[in-house]
This record gives sequence, structure tokens and C-alpha cells, in this order.
Amino acid sequence: MPQKRASRQCVITGNWKMHKTIPEAESFVRTLTPLIESSQAKVCLAIPYTALSSLSELCKILKSFLILGAQNMHAMEEGAFTGEISGQMLIDAGAKFVLLGHSERRKLFHEDSSMIHQKVKQALINGLQPVVCVGESQEEHAQGKRKIILEEQIQDSLGGLSADEIVKIHLAYEPVWAIGTGKTATPQEAQAAHSFCRQVIESQWNKEVAQALVIQYGGSVNESNSAKLLEMSDIDGLLVGGASLSPISFSKIVNSVNL
Ligand code: PGA
Repeated sequence: MPQKRASRQCVITGNWKMHKTIPEAESFVRTLTPLIESSQAKVCLAIPYTALSSLSELCKILKSFLILGAQNMHAMEEGAFTGEISGQMLIDAGAKFVLLGHSERRKLFHEDSSMIHQKVKQALINGLQPVVCVGESQEEHAQGKRKIILEEQIQDSLGGLSADEIVKIHLAYEPVWAIGTGKTATPQEAQAAHSFCRQVIESQWNKEVAQALVIQYGGSVNESNSAKLLEMSDIDGLLVGGASLSPISFSKIVNSVNL
């Protein structure tokens, strides 16, 4: 078992994006739960808002240790924001965490790091764990700008938070060029990026916080590449999109933690 596992828990998160009705979500959880019984990982699912209440009830009935979360939230406590959802509403529906700053939110819905910063603060106020996504685009990758982008996104999304707040957050390194493309970063490439993120956290806060921070990798993770990624000392978990839609593939990824 690599050293990191002793100090940082391994977290596997499925991100369903805009997939699954309530019956489909329930059927997924019923199939998945017995398949991951002996997993050593913390297993999380970022699911559609509509399925949160019913899945949290179902998890109680099945005595499942799955942790449920959402894929976005609004930065304000409440108000005239038609179509939006608040942190308190997510807690109310059974969410324990929320993905913030996913590249699809940044790109398709024009969310910038300062907006993400406000959302992180609001999530923490509500007792939701923010999972903050960072990562460079294809163009930035080609221009060798990965470090600049990561530093900028971490600084702008998390700057000003206290060390006590940072330890409540998870980071997800998701190179945009690897999301949904089948082009995973190599374990070495992802390790280098994670190690760099940890350095940025150490320089902005302190070593203890940087060492405690869980950093998940996301971008075309599947059952064939998950074990190799998890062997890397700074990769503490995985954020899985497409391959989290099937309980069989997702269970194989979850169980690759035990290999
Ligand atoms: P993918 O998505 O696994 O389908 O590449 C990952 C993500 O968007 O979180």
C-alpha cells in the first residue's frame, strides 16, 4: 500500500453529469452497493439534483456507505435567482459535497474562478464539502501553460480562505483535453500536475495543509487505467465521468483501489 494512503483517504467520485432519471439512479445504486462492499475507498456520487432525496433514502435502507453530492450550486444563500439551487437546499436533499468549477461549468456556463470562490465560501458555510476542479485546456496544454493555469485557478478559487477551510476542501485535477475524449493523462503526467498543485497549496498556506489535501484526478478514467493512476503518490482518488454511468465499470474502478 503506498505511503499516501496512510495519511490521505482514497476517494473515488462518479460524476453523472446530466444523466439518469430517479428509477435509473435507484437501479444503479441497488446494483452497485453489493459490488463495492469490500472497498477501501470512500465512494462518492455527484448526481442530478432530482435524484438526491430518493437516493439518500435508498442508501439508508441498503445501509450503503455511498456519499452523495451535487454537481453545482449558487453562490448566494437564497434570493431571486430563477432556476438556481442553494447550498442549504442541497444539504436538505441529502448532499454532503458539491463539485465546483467543473470545466463544463467554466466553459459552457461562463463561470470564472472568482464566481467559484464565492461558491466555495457558500458551500463551506452550509457544511457542504467543495470539490474544486482545476485543469488546463488543450490549447493551454499545447502552449506549455499548465503550471501557470493551475496556479492561477487555485489562487483565484481558493485565495483568502483560511488553512482550516482549505483542509475541508478536495481538489480535482481535470485536464480539459482529457475529459470525455478517451485521452487520459499518463500516470506520470497526472502525478506531476498533482504534485505541483500540492506545492502551490504549500506556498499559499502551509505544508501540513498541503499534505492533508486530497487531490483526485479526472479525465477519461476507466477500469483499465484506474489502478495505474492510483499508484502515483500524489493521486489520492479519481473523478470519473462516462465510466461512472455503468455500475459494473464504476465498481471495477472502485475496486481497483484494493489492488
Ligand atoms: P470523463 O469525465 O471521465 O467522461 O472524461 C470526467 C469529468 O468530467 O469529471
